[in-house]
Amino acid sequence: MSEPRPARYRVDPGGSVAGSVTVPGDKSISHRALMLGALAEGTTAITGFLAGEDCLGTARALEALGVRIEGLRGTQVRVHGAGGAGLQPAAGPLDLGNAGTAMRLMMGLLAPQRFSSTLVGDRSLMRRPMERVAAPLRLMGAQIRTHEGCPPVQITGTPGLHAIDYALPVASAQVKSAILLAGLGARGRTRITEPVPSRDHTERMLRTFGVELQQEGRSLSMAGGQPLNASQVAVPADFSSAAFFIVAGCLAASGPFVISNVGINPTRTGLLDMLRLMGADIRVHPRGAAAAAEPVADIEVRAAALHGISVPEALVPLAIDEFPVFFVAAACAEGETVVRGAHELRVKESDRLATTAAGLAALGIEHELLPDGMRLRGARALGGGHIDSHGDHRIAMAFAVAALKAREPIEIDDVANVATSFPGFVGTARAAGLQIREL
Ligand code: S3P
Repeated sequence: MSEPRPARYRVDPGGSVAGSVTVPGDKSISHRALMLGALAEGTTAITGFLAGEDCLGTARALEALGVRIEGLRGTQVRVHGAGGAGLQPAAGPLDLGNAGTAMRLMMGLLAPQRFSSTLVGDRSLMRRPMERVAAPLRLMGAQIRTHEGCPPVQITGTPGLHAIDYALPVASAQVKSAILLAGLGARGRTRITEPVPSRDHTERMLRTFGVELQQEGRSLSMAGGQPLNASQVAVPADFSSAAFFIVAGCLAASGPFVISNVGINPTRTGLLDMLRLMGADIRVHPRGAAAAAEPVADIEVRAAALHGISVPEALVPLAIDEFPVFFVAAACAEGETVVRGAHELRVKESDRLATTAAGLAALGIEHELLPDGMRLRGARALGGGHIDSHGDHRIAMAFAVAALKAREPIEIDDVANVATSFPGFVGTARAAGLQIREL
């Protein structure tokens, strides 16, 4: 099983950001482009692919299942589709590294196959809950075993799954997507109802691959047995990676600071609404939709004095991956910020409420950890010190941004997993103006 190499950042305090940056391709969309490309008839051409460890893990798993993929490590990738029934059994367990999305979506993809599969991952992934996906797939007739709810996940392939009508207990794009992938190979019409909207990249991409889906309010339905036709996918820059620079700009831009070509799917951009409620100056310049029906824009940010807010709960799922850096923004805002309804943060790459709270404590920020959120009081300047990222890429990058408002250097431990989502982060951050070094 892969384990991250230890590595550390040292970020000197203060400074400003200026000019424009481009961040790597969207992780969620890159995973999906590989998987749908693998299931399609024909060759799928992906541009803007994220060659980060998470998506490379998905690619290696698909290669182990007999799919030919060209151009990995670059941003232009070609997936030679195996078709709905063309995957082959892998020689051993599929190691998905740190990637929860890869494991959960692969469960849906593999459940209806003719062969069995075992899914494993790194130390963080082996502790993450998988029953949220296994349970609805079992209702479709799948045979799946977990170890006390966590990986390894053992899937006994079961061709001839049947469709279900399923109400998701929590808003989760991963669970929704796994059911849709299994539903492609199931008899009947699969129907999913979400409590609140979650990211809809799978639905958008399935449509570009020729699959018909019907949306009625919070419910989505799709007939099983529809073939996928290979397509072109232009992956926009990842809003979740742009988020670090959006917050950096709010805190310390010396003029207009632009993050270019960013995916602004409305199911992802809750952070913009939250920052604007705090008084941020953010302008979005749309650039039209990239292939795969994802809207794209340049995001222009100017520094502004932020004030604390009570985050509307409806925005939480639309900003779920951005909370580590949002808490950094709140730590630099005047007054109190409260986040509730964010229990899901406890089951991400780390327990992000606990790891962020520990980081805020190290920087001297007054806060109260709540079961489903946090209450914190912003300060004019942050302290410095040691942050343990617990191997969580987004915690590492969020606290690098905090140094812009710190009085002392910030050292961040265990940062190797930044490569899962943002290869080249240090170079991009330095070019923008952060005084960051890898030790
Ligand atoms: C993702 C969905 C979200 C998100 C994760 C990526 C996806 O997880 O946190 O980083 O690509 O579908 P949940 O579905 O568990 O909310």
